[in-house]
Amino acid sequence: MSILAELRARVATALVALAEGDQSAAEFAAMVLPSQEAKFGDYQANCAMPLGKRLGKPPREVAAAIVDKLRITDLCETPEIAGPGFINLKLKDAFVADKLKAASPDVDRLGVAAVASPRTFVLDYSSPNVAKPMHVGHIRSTVIGDALYQVLKFVGHRTISDNHIGDWGTQFGMIIYGWKHFGDEAAFAKAPVPELTRLYRLVNTLVEYHALRDEALPAAATRVAECESRVSQLELAPTPADPAEQKKHAKRISQAEGQLADARREYRELEAKLNQLDSDSKTRALADAHPTIGQAVLAETAALHAGDATNKALWQRFLPPCLAEIDETYQRLGVTFDHALGESFYEDALAGVVEDLKLKGLAKSSDGALCVFLAGQEAPFIVQKKDGAFLYATTDLATIEYRMRQWRPDAILYVVDHRQSFHFDSLFATARLWGYDNVEFQHISFGTVLGDDGKPFKTRSGSSVGLSGLLDEAVERALAIVSANDDARPEPMLSADERQIVAERVGIGAIKYADLAHNRTSDYKFSYDKMLAMTGNTAAYMQYSYARVSSIFGKGGVDPAQLRASSATITLDHPAERALGVAILQFSEALDRVVGDYRPNYLTDYLYDLAGKYSSFFENCPVLKAETEPLRNSRLLLCDLTARTLARGLNLLGIDVVERM
Ligand code: ARG
Repeated sequence: MSILAELRARVATALVALAEGDQSAAEFAAMVLPSQEAKFGDYQANCAMPLGKRLGKPPREVAAAIVDKLRITDLCETPEIAGPGFINLKLKDAFVADKLKAASPDVDRLGVAAVASPRTFVLDYSSPNVAKPMHVGHIRSTVIGDALYQVLKFVGHRTISDNHIGDWGTQFGMIIYGWKHFGDEAAFAKAPVPELTRLYRLVNTLVEYHALRDEALPAAATRVAECESRVSQLELAPTPADPAEQKKHAKRISQAEGQLADARREYRELEAKLNQLDSDSKTRALADAHPTIGQAVLAETAALHAGDATNKALWQRFLPPCLAEIDETYQRLGVTFDHALGESFYEDALAGVVEDLKLKGLAKSSDGALCVFLAGQEAPFIVQKKDGAFLYATTDLATIEYRMRQWRPDAILYVVDHRQSFHFDSLFATARLWGYDNVEFQHISFGTVLGDDGKPFKTRSGSSVGLSGLLDEAVERALAIVSANDDARPEPMLSADERQIVAERVGIGAIKYADLAHNRTSDYKFSYDKMLAMTGNTAAYMQYSYARVSSIFGKGGVDPAQLRASSATITLDHPAERALGVAILQFSEALDRVVGDYRPNYLTDYLYDLAGKYSSFFENCPVLKAETEPLRNSRLLLCDLTARTLARGLNLLGIDVVERM
């Protein structure tokens, strides 16, 4: 149990005793939290205020009564009551020191106990659509999903990762159409994925071109005409005599003019988009030659799903190189999955899902489509289209059925960007109606990665290198930084090979850490400069902190394993030393927070704070030159615990450390 959990349990007991056995009083124990400032102790219990309200008693009086009932002398100094009724808890130095000493030999777990009641989690993350360039959003999903997977596993839960690869969607209709009309055998033989990407981009552009030119632009033109006629009608109307009416009339005109301006702007924007698509003026000619490409692509997808032999053979030919390409990215990121059952895996189950939903009266026909209507949801959840086609939604329902049968999870987590929140709300509601009401469904939503211009980040446009190029550039830049730092030393210490290894870890680590350190629900700007900075809350800084702590052992000629096994004890005399010790013990609390909210940034925050506490410890407390041998050993033990906590924490986030950089 973490210290926080232990304190909450003690406070809960006191609260219930105070409320004469009323168990509900225990809920206020959740208001025990780590203190924001050292002068308020290590933890603060703010439960006297709400409990006072409930009991109709002054909070300070309630606080005193809580303290009176609190049995905590083995952990804390005498609690202090401050302000309106805050209870400040300061851990006993001896307690902290003993706990650290006990954690020290526990090389892997650092004293973090496994949860008492493990749950089973299925995690659905990464899940790119193959044959379509993977984008940074998929990296974000991969990185956040992997971190959650590792943390859940580490704290003792049963975890199953399943990469729900999009290997069956409309993009195949595009590629198949592209192949049939523009395919280049020789290019495919030489480099399959770039050829498929080319076809995807080409067909996608043509479909988009038609949608713009034949639908969106005419619609915008109609809107402009409507607004124009409204403005001229209003202008031609006689001006009312009454001043108040006159004012209203003027307001109506200016409103209509505003709408007209908006409509014109929208028209111009669409027109600009269209011109951009046609920038090399080939698109128009091709689009003209393929006037019904939009429907044709859908027809190719439908034929594939209906088992058309040609399309199925093409799909079977295209899929393996696409999967191999994705695997390369995973290898580079150091991410593996327990399963990767793509959408196609569920193909045969879809009709059954729809049958069952119909049978249970959940799916109803509406305009020829089969829909599940959900309370409080504007749009229905469509499970089968008018033309008989199944959808993303149908596959996701089949996937839930399979996962529940196969793994009986307590929770299924979907790490997918925020744009799909409507889909997941509907999916979860439908699944519950369908009978899966005993499982926690969570959409672990995340924000958009933005470019410098504040628009969704794109890998250098037009290049098919995409993601691997992104990773390459991070590593390249890391190499420059690592080399410059090393060259600036009186005596550089890294060989060329070492620099390369460090750069790979720092570069990939930087990208991952930036994804993880931001609150996942917010958007953030992708910036190599920021993520590779050697100071601040970055991977490079954390990796450097780790290397700096570790280097002490080499310098002092100390074997940490021997030290851990020795009878050396820990003392916490200096405030910076004590603060570091307490922070080390709070590792498990950070992990609990990550699990509680499914937010890896609680762990990056924690590690950053720990590195800061180490810095001030290091500035204030000589280690190798400590006054006495026992003090030196005590401090070395703290260094060792710090290093391992940093390494373990980063490792749970999928980030490798280096001994020297
Ligand atoms: N393939 C989808 C996309 O790239 C994400 C799939 C997420 N997982 C799921 N079970 N729907 O947008």
